[in-house]
Amino acid sequence: MIDKAMQNNGNNSSNGEHALLEVRGLKTHFFTRSGVVKAVDGVNLRVKRGQVVCIVGESGCGKSMTALSILQLVDKPGRIVEGEIYLEGEELTSKNRREMSQLRGSRISMIFQEPRSSLNPVFKVGKQLLEVLSIHKHAIAKTEREQQVVDLLRAVGIPDPKKRASNYPHEMSGGMAQRVMIAMGIACAPDLLIADEPTTALDVTIQAQVLDLMRKLRDELNIGIIFITHDMGVVAEMADIVAVMYAGTVVEEAPTESLFEEPLHPYTQGLIASIPIMGEFKDRLDVIPGTVPSLIDMPPGCRFASRCRARIEHNLEKCLDEEPELMEVRSGHSVRCWLYEEQDT
Ligand SMILES: Nc1ncnc2c1ncn2[C@@H]1O[C@H](COP(=O)(O)OP(=O)(O)OP(=O)(O)O)[C@@H](O)[C@H]1O
Ligand SMILES: [Mg+2]
Repeated sequence: MIDKAMQNNGNNSSNGEHALLEVRGLKTHFFTRSGVVKAVDGVNLRVKRGQVVCIVGESGCGKSMTALSILQLVDKPGRIVEGEIYLEGEELTSKNRREMSQLRGSRISMIFQEPRSSLNPVFKVGKQLLEVLSIHKHAIAKTEREQQVVDLLRAVGIPDPKKRASNYPHEMSGGMAQRVMIAMGIACAPDLLIADEPTTALDVTIQAQVLDLMRKLRDELNIGIIFITHDMGVVAEMADIVAVMYAGTVVEEAPTESLFEEPLHPYTQGLIASIPIMGEFKDRLDVIPGTVPSLIDMPPGCRFASRCRARIEHNLEKCLDEEPELMEVRSGHSVRCWLYEEQDT
């Protein structure tokens, strides 16, 4: 199967059309004194235009490192040790620093969790946006760029955008600052937007508005979005496709409806069971018991085996010995679990 995918070399459908982004067998490891931390350990992802792909999983499972690897912004002692990343068929891991920095400003952009951390406190937000525009649109007259700044602020739902452009970041609420970040993210008209927990720091109402805005951007600009979150409620609202990560790898991938209707991996089932219902927090017992194994010393077999109720119930030996592959067991619905072995075709 792998051979077939390799021959395909970036072409990922029978008619030769490229996905916007295709990540294959990505491994990003950290070479530390205590050992090799396998933060990302065999991740596959596909994002099409006009699609929101949500990466969901517990803290530390490698969501941010996957995103940073795509952008090649992983700091030492970490580095990509294996895998390929294709942007419309063009391989990225072999690009040099200059080429990547050009791509980051033009075709791929990223929004981070804490809005103010990526806004410069000493410049007005309009000026910061103008700067992004001038890096990428030298040819356009300054007055036109200034108009574009106002248009961008309006597009992300900032009221009175002309006046707001002369605010400093600290003069804005968290929600407004996050909108400015989104405006910065789309200023270069990217093909792919990566949003890493962009609403976690916001209150629920503002969060809903920002999610709404992102969906609108997906539809109106026809961009691909990777949306990272640990919140299954946000996934249900945002995602077209969901990739569930556990301990550095994708354990289940499916269209959103399919994932919620019929979650296959026992880990995904646990995540869905722990969603609070209608604001009523469920008993903590529903949270999956146990801890994630060490990313330095991953035991053989399935990474989830030690916490897996199904394995314990069925007393499955194989789960402890051999790691399952990600298998497509329904159309477009893949899972990395031995329970579905015989269904793999
Ligand atoms: N500099 C580093 N040195 C060693 N290990 C690191 C380093 N940075 C990250 N890691 C490891 O990479 C793993 C994945 O980190 P990552 O930031 O991708 O998690 P995450 O899924 O985004 O979590 P969160 O939900 O908390 O943001 C972590 O478990 C951590 O142990
Ligand atoms: Mg993270």
